[in-house]
Amino acid sequence: MALLRVVDRDGVEHEVDAKPGLKVMETLRELDYGVAAICGGMCSCATCHVYVDPEWVAKLPAAMSDERELLTELSHHESNSRLSCQLEFTNELAGLRVTIAPDE
Ligand code: FES
Repeated sequence: MALLRVVDRDGVEHEVDAKPGLKVMETLRELDYGVAAICGGMCSCATCHVYVDPEWVAKLPAAMSDERELLTELSHHESNSRLSCQLEFTNELAGLRVTIAPDE
């Protein structure tokens, strides 16, 4: 397990244990303040939308085209937006900080 820092929609930061090898979404959907992840990680619902802290953005693999296309359709899209179902959590990402995006 490794540290994942999650800022909920009320702006409260939580420190949670995330399992390397799982998608970030899989950890977030277990939290009361987490994400709905309605499509289960198929990159089609965008209910797993998060903002990645700027210091971490460059440490993540770049978004594939289907993720990018879905993100740009969102009204709350920002330059540091990612779909957490497309982010694999690894030991190297220990300390990663993400903010749950507003509901669309
Ligand atoms: S869970 Fe649906 S797009 Fe990520």
